[in-house]
Amino acid sequence: MNHTFLTFLFLFFFFLSFLHHPTYASNLYKIKQLNSDFLSQSTSSHDSHTPQSPTKYFEVTKPIELPKTKPCSYHILHHEFAHTYGKPPVFVNYTSPSHCSSTKFSKIVLEWKATCEGRQFDRIFGIWLDGVELLRSCTAEPRATGIVWSVEKDITRYHSLLLNHQKNQTLAVFLRNVVDQTYTGVYHVDITIHFYPFHVNTHETKKLNPLAFRTDSHADLILPISRNLQLNDGLWFNIQNSTDVALKEFTIPQNAYRAVLEVYVSFHEKDEFWYSNPPNEYLAANNQTNSPGNGPFREVLVTLDDKLVGSVWPFTVIYTGGVNPLLWRPITGIGSFDLPSYDIEITPFLGTILDGKNHLFGFKVTNALNVWYIDANLHLWLDAKSVRTEGVLLNHIDKPLVESIVSEFNGLNGTFLTSAKKSILSSGWVRSSFGNITTSFVQDFTYYSSMLFSKNGAKQAVNQTILFIDAVRVKLPSSRLDLIDDSSRKFSLYLDSDQLAQDNDNFIVVSNVTLGFDVNKAKSEDSGFSKSYLKNVLDGKGKMVVENNLVVSGVGETQQDYRYESKEGCYFRNIGSSNYTILYDKVKYSCNKRSHSPF
Ligand SMILES: *[C@@H]1O[C@H](CO)[C@@H](O)[C@H](O)[C@H]1NC(C)=O
Ligand SMILES: *[C@@H]1O[C@H](CO)[C@@H](O)[C@H](O)[C@H]1NC(C)=O
Ligand SMILES: *[C@@H]1O[C@H](CO)[C@@H](O)[C@H](O)[C@H]1NC(C)=O
Ligand SMILES: *[C@@H]1O[C@H](CO)[C@@H](O)[C@H](O)[C@H]1NC(C)=O
Ligand SMILES: *[C@@H]1O[C@H](CO)[C@@H](O)[C@H](O)[C@H]1NC(C)=O
Ligand SMILES: *[C@@H]1O[C@H](CO)[C@@H](O)[C@H](O)[C@H]1NC(C)=O
Ligand SMILES: *[C@@H]1O[C@H](CO)[C@@H](O)[C@H](O)[C@H]1NC(C)=O
Ligand SMILES: *[C@@H]1O[C@H](CO)[C@@H](O)[C@H](O)[C@H]1NC(C)=O
Ligand SMILES: *[C@@H]1O[C@H](CO)[C@@H](O)[C@H](O)[C@H]1NC(C)=O
Repeated sequence: MNHTFLTFLFLFFFFLSFLHHPTYASNLYKIKQLNSDFLSQSTSSHDSHTPQSPTKYFEVTKPIELPKTKPCSYHILHHEFAHTYGKPPVFVNYTSPSHCSSTKFSKIVLEWKATCEGRQFDRIFGIWLDGVELLRSCTAEPRATGIVWSVEKDITRYHSLLLNHQKNQTLAVFLRNVVDQTYTGVYHVDITIHFYPFHVNTHETKKLNPLAFRTDSHADLILPISRNLQLNDGLWFNIQNSTDVALKEFTIPQNAYRAVLEVYVSFHEKDEFWYSNPPNEYLAANNQTNSPGNGPFREVLVTLDDKLVGSVWPFTVIYTGGVNPLLWRPITGIGSFDLPSYDIEITPFLGTILDGKNHLFGFKVTNALNVWYIDANLHLWLDAKSVRTEGVLLNHIDKPLVESIVSEFNGLNGTFLTSAKKSILSSGWVRSSFGNITTSFVQDFTYYSSMLFSKNGAKQAVNQTILFIDAVRVKLPSSRLDLIDDSSRKFSLYLDSDQLAQDNDNFIVVSNVTLGFDVNKAKSEDSGFSKSYLKNVLDGKGKMVVENNLVVSGVGETQQDYRYESKEGCYFRNIGSSNYTILYDKVKYSCNKRSHSPF
């Protein structure tokens, strides 16, 4: 059998991810061998004379800005995730904290802390409170000497849900794990929520301003747009192909005056590496129709009662087992420990759903292959001074997707250039006790990908860029100036993987990855205008030596440059690692006046 890069990718990653689903047992053996031998290196390579402490894994990101107050901490769950395959999520009763001395909190932080040792795959997991998703994440892959990692997420935007004293709620954690003699890793997990009281005399008190658009004010009500709790699965919908549509019925209070849908997305199995999937005609011509295809473009579409309200062109999160698992130890890939969620402004459409009746949100994914996990939270701001608000959708333009693919191939060598463009516009007014407010929302997307197969498919290079622009404009009755909330994101991916063959069963895979996540934001604030600029780029290169289908050795090296600048403060981190070791780590909080600033 000719070990092309594609077959390798297919076997190593595709079947590897099938291990999450034991129904595909026929292909397990080979890959278990491949992976277990690879992972067992960590046993042989450590010095048995010196007992080792667990390795700490982490994602490079800006630390959460905390008020100078003592948090009131609530330990919610301790659980050992071992044999959780085919089982329901783990449930705990959640009561909003009553033991805290304060009742007003300016920051709420979710802390996930876990340890694991042995061997295990990367597992996707989710945390929901009464069906509202709080965190989507991926576990770290352990090593024999043990690992520890934690994820801290600012969950202040779920304030009204977390502090709902009216009812006791259910927290659900779904992490599908399988433990056996080879895959020994059990995840020991602690979840704590830290509530930080307001610090008197700080500017934060201004956030009590009741008007949703003016500040970082949090929704009064958050409705789950997810599956119901009685499942042996996560609460996410499973989207299995390009025609599959997930629908959720909901009703909103009739006094809402703003609505934002927060969408969580992750891609798995045949679409875990969607950005590297070639077109079907290439696979067909080369008799590789079992390999994941449908080309490298994906788009998540969100509908409300059959109208397209927004789209998500997702960031290419690489999970901790992706490309070369050694790349993500100890610095994990951008977004892998805290997957980004995406906000869609629903306010222009509010007038169509204020009738107290049932409405439907729908999710589908263009070109999808099995499987995408998608759900959402509907954030609603309610008018305390009225029982009914009213509104009308004024304008809705859904420009059809313009996609172009230029394919050129000869056997397994080929070049594929894919580009896509789309924009969606909506505007509408809502009349509440704040007056008649007109909101418009524009999304503008550009996608470009070049994919190159050479050496008869043994070498693949992908260079992809997504530009994702969201613009919200709010016309308040009292103000001449529109409020602005804009973000412009650039997601870039460069992936180069080369299989250097010695013979059919012995080869080396060399891979290079560059992942970029840049975000520019501009927002009207009480104090004026705030802008922020994030440039986050991670470069990795790795090597795996495969002998007789077993990965016998390997190494991963990464460097990451994180630069955040805003008027309120800056954060820079420049860090590098190789073979589990941090080589350098420079952190700076002060904004460098001399450095080139985008403002
Ligand atoms: C939650 O509380 C209810 C009622 O108090 C109880 O019946 C149930 O067993 C509790 N569930 C969990 C997971 O502790
Ligand atoms: C929530 O649960 C606690 C403890 O089980 C109970 O004392 C309290 O009355 C419950 N609150 C509501 C609103 O059901
Ligand atoms: C797509 O997935 C849905 C849901 O699993 C299934 O009912 C449908 O038959 C699939 N369509 C195709 C074309 O495979
Ligand atoms: C694909 O399979 C068909 C039939 O089995 C065969 O005729 C053809 O030569 C194969 N093509 C390639 C590129 O291997
Ligand atoms: C609200 O403003 C819009 C746009 O200016 C206008 O068309 C609409 O009639 C107004 N609605 C009410 C109830 O005043
Ligand atoms: C594919 O490209 C390689 C060089 O990358 C070349 O050696 C080989 O002959 C090409 N194969 C075909 C079918 O053109
Ligand atoms: C990827 O493509 C962009 C243009 O879209 C180009 O500027 C960049 O240099 C390419 N990167 C690599 C590594 O080839
Ligand atoms: C990876 O990057 C290194 C250094 O930038 C380069 O020498 C090497 O050719 C690259 N390898 C691949 C497979 O692109
Ligand atoms: C990685 O580090 C281990 C010791 O921790 C060492 O035995 C091994 O040779 C190193 N690998 C490379 C490629 O440097």
